[in-house]
Amino acid sequence: MANSSALNPRKEFLPFSLPTIGQEEIDEVVESLRSGWLTTGPKVIKFQEKFKSYIGCRNAVALNSGTAGLHVALLSMDLRPGDEVITTPLTFTATANTILHAGGRVVFADIDMDTLNVDIDAVKAAITPSTKAVIPVHFAGLPCDMDAFIAYCRRKGILIIEDAAHAVGSEYKGIKIGSIGDITVFSFHPTKGMTTGEGGMITFSDDGLKDRFELLGFHGIERSVGAVRSVPSVADYDIKMPGFKYNMLDIQAAIGLHQIDRLNAFIKKRTLLAELYRERLERIEELILPKLPAYDLVHSWHIFTPLLKIEDLNIDRHSFISELRGHGIGAAYHYKALHLHSFYRTLGFRPGQFPKAEYVSDRILSLPLFPNMTERDIDDVSLAVENIIAKNRKKGF
Ligand SMILES: Cc1ncc(COP(=O)(O)O)c(C=O)c1O
Repeated sequence: MANSSALNPRKEFLPFSLPTIGQEEIDEVVESLRSGWLTTGPKVIKFQEKFKSYIGCRNAVALNSGTAGLHVALLSMDLRPGDEVITTPLTFTATANTILHAGGRVVFADIDMDTLNVDIDAVKAAITPSTKAVIPVHFAGLPCDMDAFIAYCRRKGILIIEDAAHAVGSEYKGIKIGSIGDITVFSFHPTKGMTTGEGGMITFSDDGLKDRFELLGFHGIERSVGAVRSVPSVADYDIKMPGFKYNMLDIQAAIGLHQIDRLNAFIKKRTLLAELYRERLERIEELILPKLPAYDLVHSWHIFTPLLKIEDLNIDRHSFISELRGHGIGAAYHYKALHLHSFYRTLGFRPGQFPKAEYVSDRILSLPLFPNMTERDIDDVSLAVENIIAKNRKKGF
């Protein structure tokens, strides 16, 4: 591995993430553009069907983002003032913002230090008579221990909405995420396991929710004719509720139709790259590498997230990311714990409340990980990481 001498930066910048778009996706989008059918239409219907059979779930409704999926899932609960929804502080802000948009109160529960997922015991401790739902986030693509969540929440009559934005293709005990719990939400943002440009999918077991999600996702317009959500020019229509404009376009579904075919290959490659990182980085004492729980799972490796032991270094995480940039390497971090952000502090949250999430929040790093990366790219990143650590190691450590 590297020594601490100066390392030449990469000639070509390595981004932290890049979508893998093939000729099939390009041809399908072009076909949509030429056909004149750009908005929600037959390709969205086909994509929903394909996604359903990939996941093995009963229902799937495509929307224009994962955020939209969380929003309609939460709205369908008809939360009343004071109703509480528990989630992790180590997540993207959409998870908690949508609780507020749906009229709920955000309650955070601290994380498990091994999986970085919300800790079921912390969730149990946060439950009150006002708790209506829990949103476990499958962080980085590592599935939460769903048996524990389901056993507890069913007994308490609490709904589980899985935030699977990171976890398309992940499996828990041989079953795909998206077919286990009541409602699951996926994101197809370009950094995610598969993409539609922007986009999302909500999967669910209760057939009765389908109309609700479709109404909420498209202006509350009841579709009286056909299976296609589009301008209701073909028949009489009725507004059932003030819904949102959250529909996925055929142009987006055109990409998704081929991404879903490649998803298993993407995950295979991401897994291989994560193993290479592990081999290259495991001897660096100032890093804590991602851990795997004992239960059977398929990790989809949306991100590879070592923790930097900043107490042993003369550099903080933000400067570390800047140094990596200097080496021609893009890195990111997921996430600054939500309760530390200024808006969430106005809700009464404060530092010290969720010490594990805060520990991770100060130290976590997302190294480049995407299917088209090569072993050489992993070597470049690993050498740069080792080099920066060697330069900034605290003396006498
Ligand atoms: C954990 C989590 N939840 C929700 C979302 C929202 O998804 P989208 O960007 O598709 O709205 C994201 C996306 O970044 C996410 O990472």
